[in-house]
Amino acid sequence: MMKTIRDFDLNQKRVLVRCDFNVDIGQKGEILDGYKIDRTIPTINYLLEKRAKIILMSHLGRPKGKRVESLSLKPVAKSLEKDLKRPVKFLSDCVGPKVTAAVQKMKPGEIVLLENLRFHKEEEENDPKFAQALSRLGEFYINDGFGVIHRAHASIVGVPRFLPSAMGLLLEEEVKTLSEAVEKRLPPLVAIIGGVKLETKVKLIKKLLQRADHVILGGKIAYKILRVKGLCLHGLVYKEEVLQMIRSIDIANPKLHLPIDADILLKNGTEGYFRSASLGQLRKEEEILDIGPETIRVFTDVISKAKSVIWNGPLGKFEDERFAKGSLAVAHAIIRSRAFSIVGGGDTSTLLKKYNLIKEFDFVSTGGGAMLAFLEEENLPGLQALREASQRSYR
Ligand code: 3PG
Repeated sequence: MMKTIRDFDLNQKRVLVRCDFNVDIGQKGEILDGYKIDRTIPTINYLLEKRAKIILMSHLGRPKGKRVESLSLKPVAKSLEKDLKRPVKFLSDCVGPKVTAAVQKMKPGEIVLLENLRFHKEEEENDPKFAQALSRLGEFYINDGFGVIHRAHASIVGVPRFLPSAMGLLLEEEVKTLSEAVEKRLPPLVAIIGGVKLETKVKLIKKLLQRADHVILGGKIAYKILRVKGLCLHGLVYKEEVLQMIRSIDIANPKLHLPIDADILLKNGTEGYFRSASLGQLRKEEEILDIGPETIRVFTDVISKAKSVIWNGPLGKFEDERFAKGSLAVAHAIIRSRAFSIVGGGDTSTLLKKYNLIKEFDFVSTGGGAMLAFLEEENLPGLQALREASQRSYR
């Protein structure tokens, strides 16, 4: 069992909170998509009510252990100040004597945000000394970063070794909703997986074929499977081990739904010219950018009977409006079905935001890779660390 934030008396205590503030920031420091920040506010408000001293920490991007100014979390502190209507002090590092001194001076109800954890290579290396240095800042540790729960990094799995630790409100809600989506779901459950990186999704597809009633695949991943199976084009080069993994997907499984046609861009055609083609008609020089009309018909028919839906990853290159058709048809089919709907992944939520559809879905996960990893294997490093911490006694 994992403890939750409600299991501790945090009054006047220094509480170190791991958040996922990995958000898109524009050139002028403006937050382009503050969804993950918004979803962390209830935990911060809870801690404010308890008169805790709140120390927030997060990563931003992948600076590879170096200070990269464009990946500073300073704009996030500003955005939090606006949301919370109170000061959020930004500290220009996450460890070191200045940080320790600033944290020791904190009064109940004050908030600080530490600089990007990944400016230190020790974060991703899960260095125990770095984890211990972070842990000394707080008296309690709360993990509210569902989006990074699949990473075995110092602030996620290292710190809970040293401090009484629990889930924040967001992490708790994500874990509960996603596990119930699979365990206690109303059948038929339709899982829709799109996106680009097939290598990282093969295991998940197989798992979903056991747990869901239908698995719909779109986006580049689907056409990659079709290529490896020899059903459209050729010429994709994969390492033998990856090929074997892909070949092991049983495409004859009646639960599995793959595209039967595609929308493609004609490289040598006039600008903006594209056409739909069945799999057999596809030519090598043509780029597949969306599922085709026949596929849309089949997929939306399957979705119309769903009582629960899990969706991660767009079905085409939706950034170009000509190729947003497949993803939008799927989105509208889910809405029409009135199924309990869970969506995840940065690209999928960007699509839904762009077309003002986000409110139509029951739950939008803050996790992309984390949501997929959770559906594949519920025992993720960050959760395991919290479970172990709940068994430990701290002095
Ligand atoms: C995300 O945006 O998916 C999370 O913040 C994890 O980021 P990472 O893939 O760089 O670990």
